[in-house]
Amino acid sequence: MRYRQFGRTGWEVSEIGYGMWGMGGWSNSDDHESLGSLQAAVTRGCNFFDTAQVYGEGRSENLLGQTVRANRDKRLYTATKVPPRNKQWPAPSECGLQESYPPDHIEELVHRSLENARLESFDLMQFHTWNDEWLRDDRWLYKLDDLRSHRLISAIGISLNRWEPWNGVRAVRTGQIDSVQVIYNIFDQNPEDDLFPACEEMNVAVIARVPFDEGTLTGTLTNDSKWPESDWRNTYFVPENLIPSVERANALKVFLRGWNREHSTEISMPEMALRFILTNPAVSTIIPGMRKLSHVEANIAAGDAGPLPAELYAELKKHRWVRKPTPWSQ
Ligand SMILES: NC(=O)c1ccc[n+]([C@@H]2O[C@H](COP(=O)([O-])OP(=O)(O)OC[C@H]3O[C@@H](n4cnc5c(N)ncnc54)[C@H](OP(=O)(O)O)[C@@H]3O)[C@@H](O)[C@H]2O)c1
Repeated sequence: MRYRQFGRTGWEVSEIGYGMWGMGGWSNSDDHESLGSLQAAVTRGCNFFDTAQVYGEGRSENLLGQTVRANRDKRLYTATKVPPRNKQWPAPSECGLQESYPPDHIEELVHRSLENARLESFDLMQFHTWNDEWLRDDRWLYKLDDLRSHRLISAIGISLNRWEPWNGVRAVRTGQIDSVQVIYNIFDQNPEDDLFPACEEMNVAVIARVPFDEGTLTGTLTNDSKWPESDWRNTYFVPENLIPSVERANALKVFLRGWNREHSTEISMPEMALRFILTNPAVSTIIPGMRKLSHVEANIAAGDAGPLPAELYAELKKHRWVRKPTPWSQ
């Protein structure tokens, strides 16, 4: 495992971190399997774990707490997220801070997350939605500083709404946040435009989330993909999204087959997706969602292979897909 600096915090985090949404609430999650996968990742050097209170209403935070307690001899970095009080994803532009993150709500929910995980503190507390307009009201910052002074949290981050990487640049430029979490993958390259330069300038850590575009970039989805009724992916992969996503993933598959043939390599779609992200030095850690042990092993091996060859990277840059938030994109 290789490690990178996490912005100005002084933490050295694994390039392959761990996304813990799926194990909290996606269909067919099994806690025994998830704990085994988490432990395998720790054993292989993974030290950064991203969860949130809404991932199974504490179920994922609880699994993280168990993993930390089972590895007291290791420095594991724990990141969670406070949900907005109005439970609106993404943050509606007309909603002010009072509806989303009033100070008493922040305090109450940080305590609830600590109880869920049975931990005394979290390394990173993030807002689960963000709107740069909230910078006009700095009560959120005073509250987080207060929680930090009581050692309940160490660092402060924001998680940006899907396909709005621009809506966080001003927060980064205030110099008051330690990290930003953003969707960055072969399709969603636009954080490179304004967000990453701001993060590099301000030494703010970047957590690259949704590296596989929720599954598309693993190359396993088809136009007929369906999930059990309760699974949120049914609401995200509506035909308007699924069909063009599969089409673009299939184009990548054809390209990769040709590349592998020509260069006598055996790079897989998930490996290519992770190594694409790793090639950008602005990224501090990637947090692939993974419940299966085989996925942990494959993704950590992909990290070990390091950045992509320049020629392959340049070809993938052409697969940028600019998308705008929609009612189904959440
Ligand atoms: N608003 C926010 O702050 C927000 C929103 C979304 C996500 N996140 C964070 O970002 C993390 C990552 O995003 P995500 O989990 O939604 O999506 P993702 O990482 O793009 O995709 C996860 C999917 O890929 C599968 N997978 C993982 N490794 C694979 C491999 N090597 N081969 C084939 N399939 C593989 C996983 O399967 P298994 O699970 O079955 O192993 C899962 O179905 C989340 O877990 C969460 O921590 C934050």
